[in-house]
Amino acid sequence: MPQKQLTAPDIMAAKGQRKLAVLTAYDHPTGLLADEAGADMVLVGDSLGMVCLGLPDTLGVTMADMLHHTKATARAVKRALLVGDMPFLSYQTSVETAVANAGRFVQESGARAVKLEGGAAFVPHIRAMLAAGIPVMGHLGLTPQQVAVLGGFKAQGKTARAAKQLLADAHALAQAGCFALVLEAMPAEVAARITSEIDIPTIGIGAGPDCDGQVLVFHDIVGLCPGLRPSFVKQYADLWTPAREALSAYCAEVREGRFPAPAQTRRMAADELAEFGAQTEYGDA
Ligand code: KIV
Repeated sequence: MPQKQLTAPDIMAAKGQRKLAVLTAYDHPTGLLADEAGADMVLVGDSLGMVCLGLPDTLGVTMADMLHHTKATARAVKRALLVGDMPFLSYQTSVETAVANAGRFVQESGARAVKLEGGAAFVPHIRAMLAAGIPVMGHLGLTPQQVAVLGGFKAQGKTARAAKQLLADAHALAQAGCFALVLEAMPAEVAARITSEIDIPTIGIGAGPDCDGQVLVFHDIVGLCPGLRPSFVKQYADLWTPAREALSAYCAEVREGRFPAPAQTRRMAADELAEFGAQTEYGDA
């Protein structure tokens, strides 16, 4: 029997009942792994620009990139709620553009919700998406699409004034109808207060233990991202080293003529070989 896929209302109903585990994924294998691991939500994040496309930040990620990757992930995810991340300039320019692009995620890629970055300024966009039937997850704190304005990937909400602004934005997004809210890179105290004051689940990343759930980037968890990791990331496995060793071993075996060995070699039936010409028999030099 096909299993039931989680919905945005299921995620909302989890608030206060259980912690939510959220993973990013970007293609069919990572989607399968995240779903099999039991993630409640799988987010095709625009972080794919950095972890899959080799970009320095998320600003170069396009709708075409996001749809391409979300489609592949959707073919794998059967249980988790699949969320597509709206890339830079896919919703900021107008409410109409926002609804049209959010609609493309649902209609063309198989996502069943979208995420966008930003505060109260995007309440009209969120309301219009909801009116069109598209659940929206908000994202406050370090919002990477604002990296040029913020002057880098910096934690937010460190002063009382900035924290109050985040709290006000969180209330605005919850009242606008977001079903969940990502809180990225902010003091734990700020995330805890937001979590206690709003009635939708908060999903933290670098926002302390009191959020209703947590999200991490797939490649960070399994150690497939060479280079510096943010301090809030916990790497649960190092897949980079064994993967590189396996690939080096393959290259060496090819060069040394040890791959393919007989176990990987398909042989012709003796009668067919005789008819084909015995002098071509594999191994006869
Ligand atoms: O793009 C992304 O992966 C994200 C998560 C880190 C929340 O926005």
